Amino acid sequence: MPAALRLQAMKILVIGGGGREHALVWRLAQERPAHTLFCAPGNAGTESLATNLPIAAEDVPALTAWAEQHRPDLTVAGPEAPLCAGVADAFEALGLRLFGPTRAAARMEGSKLFAKEIMMAAGVATARAESFADARQAAAALPRFQLPVVIKADGLAAGKGVSVCATRPEAEAAIREMLVDSVFGAAGARILIEEFLEGEEASILALTDGERIALLPSAQDHKRVGDDDTGPNTGGMGAYSPAPVVTPAVAEFVTARVIEPVVRELRRRGIVYRGVLYAGLMIGREGPKVLEFNCRFGDPETQAVLPRLDGDLSALLLACAEGRLDPGALRVRPEPCVTVVMASRGYPGHYLKGLPIGGLDAASRHAGTVVFHAGTARRDGAVVTAGGRVLAVTACAPDMRQAVERAYAAAAEIRFDGAHYRSDIARRAFARE
Ligand code: AMP
Ligand code: GLY
Repeated sequence: MPAALRLQAMKILVIGGGGREHALVWRLAQERPAHTLFCAPGNAGTESLATNLPIAAEDVPALTAWAEQHRPDLTVAGPEAPLCAGVADAFEALGLRLFGPTRAAARMEGSKLFAKEIMMAAGVATARAESFADARQAAAALPRFQLPVVIKADGLAAGKGVSVCATRPEAEAAIREMLVDSVFGAAGARILIEEFLEGEEASILALTDGERIALLPSAQDHKRVGDDDTGPNTGGMGAYSPAPVVTPAVAEFVTARVIEPVVRELRRRGIVYRGVLYAGLMIGREGPKVLEFNCRFGDPETQAVLPRLDGDLSALLLACAEGRLDPGALRVRPEPCVTVVMASRGYPGHYLKGLPIGGLDAASRHAGTVVFHAGTARRDGAVVTAGGRVLAVTACAPDMRQAVERAYAAAAEIRFDGAHYRSDIARRAFARE
């Protein structure tokens, strides 16, 4: 691609309002010449770098109407909901470039059953599973699985559709909740009963234009709310990159035996996958197996991965959207990066919003540190909490230990009532040293 083209300033819309989207906006804002950035709806962190638009990330008709009027050169979709609802298709129909898969391709996340089918057809290693729409038949199948067993809603359930069940009665209750009580609505009208996999989890995010692929640096999320992976599941309490469990051999395996075959199998079915294909992996004794796919950047993985990318992110994303990705254009810095999520009291359960946040400027002055806003808003000029996950305090350093020290030193500067965070982010990386 001619350099002149790559350096053109663009009008870019980022869809979403969490820590991932602040990281995207922050990264795009570093490029020169400067882009004109918009974020829908954004948060109190994106507002100094982009124009926040009062449009919800899920409101595809309003996003499309705005884009038709303002003709952004590039749109980057953060969350899965608009992608699964067809925002990429709507933008394509207007001749607009959007980074993210079409509705048909986004089913890799939107339907766990579809993802299983593709994996089976493509020969990708994953947990054995059976699918059911009838609670009695599902319960009758339980003896075919060892304990613990995993019960999953087929559709999108805001990250809550997975139950790891230690006992048969627990599994029966999870089946009933989904298939009889419909706690996840239509998303739980079909379920998967799945074999429990043991090992260490890692996230591999691959950029793809539907043909070529480029792996982003590996990362590891921390899903449980408490230290040592205790307590309930959350959207993610912190992440670090690189994840040492993703050795070069694992990365090669995932490229050749997971991402490439999936993209090829989709293409064989007439589905061109353009965007990020995120493989959630369990790396155990039998090698990496896929737990799930996501059709988007991970949150909080993105906050730890994007600070490590060199070069123009916009050029990479646009190349994916236009079907001309050059995997050699992806360049990664060696410095590791850590992000620590600060959450509201009560999260992942009920929590209050609107609490004032102090110490943000002091935290941001630490070397190598950036505080991404996740659930924040501005009220009467002050930054207040507006979500369960409030901030992602992020630091890069020459080595992982220093990055961790930096992130925690910055987090210690920040105050809001009930703030809590894990104190062991990236500890697994040290354990492998
Ligand atoms: P998912 O939404 O599929 O990523 O599931 C959420 C979390 O549940 C994963 O990050 C794992 O920690 C756990 N999980 C899902 N499927 C399995 C499985 N088959 N075996 C073990 N743990 C699983
Ligand atoms: N960090 C997990 C996710 O983005 O789904």
